[in-house]
Amino acid sequence: MSNISSVLEEKRLFPPAADFVGNARLDADSLAELKAAAQKDPSGFWAGLARRELAWQTPFTQVLDDSRAPNYAWFADGRTNASANCLDRHLGERGDKVAIRFEGEQGDTRNWTYRELHAEVCRLANGLKSLGVTKGDRVVIYMPHTPEAVIAMQACARIGALHSIVFGGFSAGALRDRIDDASARLVITADGGWRGGNIIELKKAVDEALSSGCKSIEKVVVFRRSGHEVAFDDSRDVWWHELVATQATACDPEWVEAEHPLFLLYTSGSTGKPKGIQHSTGGYLLGAHMTMQWVFDIRDDDVFWCTADVGWITGHTYVCYGPLSNGATILIYEGAPTVPDAGRFWKICQDQGVTIFYTAPTAIRALMKLGEQWPAKYDLSKLRLLGSVGEPINPEAWMWYHRVIGREKLPIVDTWWQTETGAVMMSPVPGATATKPGSCTQPLPGIFAEVVDEAGERVQGTEAGGYLVITQPWPSMLRTIWGDNERYIQTYWAQFKNRYYVAGDSTHRDADGYYWIMGRVDDVLNVSGHRLGTMEIESALVSHARVAEAAVVGRPHEVKGESVFAFVTCNGERPQGDEAEALIKELRAHVGKEIGALAKPDEIRFADNLPKTRSGKIMRRLLRSVAKGEQITQDVSTLENPGIVAQLQGKA
Ligand code: PRX
Repeated sequence: MSNISSVLEEKRLFPPAADFVGNARLDADSLAELKAAAQKDPSGFWAGLARRELAWQTPFTQVLDDSRAPNYAWFADGRTNASANCLDRHLGERGDKVAIRFEGEQGDTRNWTYRELHAEVCRLANGLKSLGVTKGDRVVIYMPHTPEAVIAMQACARIGALHSIVFGGFSAGALRDRIDDASARLVITADGGWRGGNIIELKKAVDEALSSGCKSIEKVVVFRRSGHEVAFDDSRDVWWHELVATQATACDPEWVEAEHPLFLLYTSGSTGKPKGIQHSTGGYLLGAHMTMQWVFDIRDDDVFWCTADVGWITGHTYVCYGPLSNGATILIYEGAPTVPDAGRFWKICQDQGVTIFYTAPTAIRALMKLGEQWPAKYDLSKLRLLGSVGEPINPEAWMWYHRVIGREKLPIVDTWWQTETGAVMMSPVPGATATKPGSCTQPLPGIFAEVVDEAGERVQGTEAGGYLVITQPWPSMLRTIWGDNERYIQTYWAQFKNRYYVAGDSTHRDADGYYWIMGRVDDVLNVSGHRLGTMEIESALVSHARVAEAAVVGRPHEVKGESVFAFVTCNGERPQGDEAEALIKELRAHVGKEIGALAKPDEIRFADNLPKTRSGKIMRRLLRSVAKGEQITQDVSTLENPGIVAQLQGKA
């Protein structure tokens, strides 16, 4: 990646601004104290925080249980409830404080206080109970990015049902597979969502998914958002507003064991089948709660805006659970960053008084391209902290963020973490850590990272490169893969004989102990901060009648980080000219239908066959070079048909 050489030459260092340090929750000394305490007694450190920071119905006496490692348990004999932590405990002091500020793409706004949010969550929780949903049931949420998505999550948590959110950009086919894998009992959706002035047909996709599977689904709850006409099956579908109309605004939380799963979230891996990452209640909440304080320095007067959709882990931890458990005010915006124009994000920051802004490098790069005149139009003086997540941020985008949005003084927290880690793992602490553009700096207190080589040995020295691993269990770690514990062990632990959690990223650690994430080491792409498995896209392509074989690789992309590049062989003659053009269009649409628009290949090339080694493995490294347009240096003499290289390059 061209990124790599540029980040490794990056030598700039930005110490935390003095006026920020003066008011920060953590300065360098208090951070050092936390790290030292965690170093001395990692599980005791977390236990102390869990007792002090979370509300427990039954206090725990057990802390870390590693007797079934690598399946770890935390605080197992304690009982708590995530929704009670996020809502009930704020009612006294913060009942009238705004919990959610909402703005729709068309300019509609609405606020919910903690008391109002609590009442809405209770009404829906009671409604779900009236439909027979009980503790342990799976509920799929397929919603637009509106406060009701958060209400749905909280309502599930309140009654001990596991939510499994499917991002609204995924297609009916992807939705069906996730519903079936989780054997979900109920779907919560909306008639439609808004994006780019268009209605996203969510209910229609649910109907389509349910017509081709999903036998476990008993009811579909439909929130009215877009207001357009949708098909309605009276025996199965229930309008949200009708369901909650007669429900009480109080609902006792179901006190669950700390290890009771709070949610599943499907994510891509190295195989064609997405995995249901299973998170716990107590440990997950502790990670979400503490990182809001350490990384985002959250305060009572903040307006916190994490732009991620609730369909991704970032939306779970930093739209819903982390901020609400701290009693913070969040902003939710449903819509595109460029509607009606490229100033929309900055206008929202101004109008809504946003103080902390957390987004993805792909958004920063896209907004950077649109020009400085857009942020210049708005008063961004309330902003006090900026964040980045989801992919490596290139120093150029970091510097733009720092200079144009951050007025050359706001701290930037580049947060490294994953769906699996539940909460931020490595990040600057804004009042304590000097930042370097492109580095997520160092692990947070209680998180122990290392760099290891192929053999799993720690790479010593001041300039280390290798696999990123986490050497100690932490409370917000995933517990397993839903229905497939063996895959959990194989994917995250087996590579180094269960000694470490293997993140799947490669990293470099510099002389100051700062980490620089280089990207995935497995067949996972990161397109606009969205994780996609190459195998998933390949199986979608192969499910088309014309396709015999497909190989998908990533190609560096200026805005998206990576783009999808597919090499395809066809049944019958290799298509050329107009026929090829038409088939490319068809295949892109096909992938959109199978997975979702986000997975559509940017480029598709046809060849008579794919380059393979003697053992039949596709030579992905060669394909990556071809996709990048690089000179081919690999030995291609062993290929069945060396002539195909020219075809792959689009030259024959
Ligand atoms: O490769 C890393 C990249 O995103 C992957 C995790 O993707 P996902 O589970 O979808 O979660 C994204 C949001 C937490 C990681 O394995 N990644 C995430 N954050 C960063 C990053 N790469 C570099 N720098 C980051 N700050």
